[in-house]
Amino acid sequence: MYIVFEGIDGAGKSTQIQLLKEWLEANGFKVETLVEPTDSEIGKLIRRILQRPDAKTDLVQKTLGLLFAADRMLIMDELNDESKVIISDRSFISSLAYQDNMEWIGELNRYAKKPDLLILLDLDVKKSVSRTSGEDTFENEEFLTGVRDNYLNLAKNYEHQIIDANNGINKVSSDIKKAVAPYLGLCPDCIL
Ligand code: TYD
Repeated sequence: MYIVFEGIDGAGKSTQIQLLKEWLEANGFKVETLVEPTDSEIGKLIRRILQRPDAKTDLVQKTLGLLFAADRMLIMDELNDESKVIISDRSFISSLAYQDNMEWIGELNRYAKKPDLLILLDLDVKKSVSRTSGEDTFENEEFLTGVRDNYLNLAKNYEHQIIDANNGINKVSSDIKKAVAPYLGLCPDCIL
């Protein structure tokens, strides 16, 4: 099963993925986690470009769209390992939400694997801005408001669960476990 976590910056994806991983392992599943952008050469280049003050301009966004798609292509094989639950921190759905040129970005990611389950961690934009360092050019209120709206529209295209990420870590974690449990034949009321 391929589970993708999405959400604006600061939504708590990495913390929640770790908690879900530990819970699934305690329930006997083999779990592998992935992060996009990856730590490949392309991923490193992406992280540098994200800090440029002009990262939101049309041409740099298009360049990022190309780089994210290439970075993602490098991990395609890993996503198809059916012996494990694969949990990914972001996916091509981030490109659709952040790079925003839906048709073209969709075409670039034509071969990207669709999630079996999308977990959208939905966070208030003001909270996002206060939780993040502000180092990346994307971490500002106006831009992230558009990204959040995109996510809420995009989620409808996939098997998805929207989780309120404004709550505390433990509440968010148990909401995620309850949402994931039925897909893996686990009992939603038996959350550890
Ligand atoms: P992020 O997961 O926030 O990494 P970090 O925790 O190191 O800041 O990802 C970095 C940024 O990249 C984030 O603002 C979202 C953006 N992004 C895109 O714009 N498009 C994409 O396709 C992906 C995967 C990420």
